[in-house]
Amino acid sequence: MTEHHEIKPGQSVELLKELHILTRDGKLNQDSRRKLKQVYHLYQFIEPLLKEVQVEHPEVTLVDHGAGKSYLGFILYDLFFKDRPGSGHIYGIETRDELVKKSQELAQRLSFPGMSFLNLSVAESTNSDLLPETIDVVTALHACNTATDDAIAFALKKKAKFMVLVPCCQAEVATVLRKNKAKSLKNPLAEIWRHPIHTREFGSQITNVLRCLQLEAHGYQVTVTELVGWEHSMKNELIIAQYKNLPRRKPTERLAAVLAELGLEEMQERFFTV
Ligand SMILES: C[S@@+](CC[C@H](N)C(=O)[O-])C[C@H]1O[C@@H](n2cnc3c(N)ncnc32)[C@H](O)[C@@H]1O
Repeated sequence: MTEHHEIKPGQSVELLKELHILTRDGKLNQDSRRKLKQVYHLYQFIEPLLKEVQVEHPEVTLVDHGAGKSYLGFILYDLFFKDRPGSGHIYGIETRDELVKKSQELAQRLSFPGMSFLNLSVAESTNSDLLPETIDVVTALHACNTATDDAIAFALKKKAKFMVLVPCCQAEVATVLRKNKAKSLKNPLAEIWRHPIHTREFGSQITNVLRCLQLEAHGYQVTVTELVGWEHSMKNELIIAQYKNLPRRKPTERLAAVLAELGLEEMQERFFTV
């Protein structure tokens, strides 16, 4: 039996088969049902942002960092852009060449001209001539380690109106917390990250806090929610940022104060504010 009631109207069954979300005979298995549910859940957040961009100009540019197999990009394109010629372009950025090639072939096979896939790291893409000077929407879905931070730096440089981030574990902050632990122990709050497992978990959590402050320090309004429907994933924090040119002074000071309090001053460059 096909289970098309779980598939959004307008979604190409052929695409879902190509992405191996549906089997050749149109079935969803446990894993692919979860993947589809996740991407649809995110789509609910992203679709209104695309529409909001289109109020300003008809052609939306979206960059998806750490695209992997580009489930998100393809499903977005299929649902939003495919039947509206000239409505936008999606760029997938991915370091694994074989995934980039597969996505390029699939976009060609499906006749999705508004999709490009670039074999670049997020950091490299920031200065690549292959991408436009400005980008409307930046997404990064479980982009590994500091790739989310690079995606934020990319979006800031490209003056993105929106960012949709679901961070993965970030090890860099935990490493610095660990390195400076002895010095920090006079602060009773250092108990929060004294034990190694706490160092890792707190490092990961405070990273997202610092990211949010960084975004606010650049004039963005930030919303953080749990990505429900993502219950099988440990990493389910969804950060949505919208550029509103908000006052920057307070979050900038706050970010510097948090870095100082935690012995993370050397991370100032990572969480740059100007
Ligand atoms: C966990 S997967 C997530 C894939 C996809 N976003 C998803 O949610 O299905 C992370 C992907 O990011 C890619 N990646 C990791 N670091 C990267 C970097 N610095 N620049 C570009 N891609 C990167 C990996 O090769 C991998 O395909």
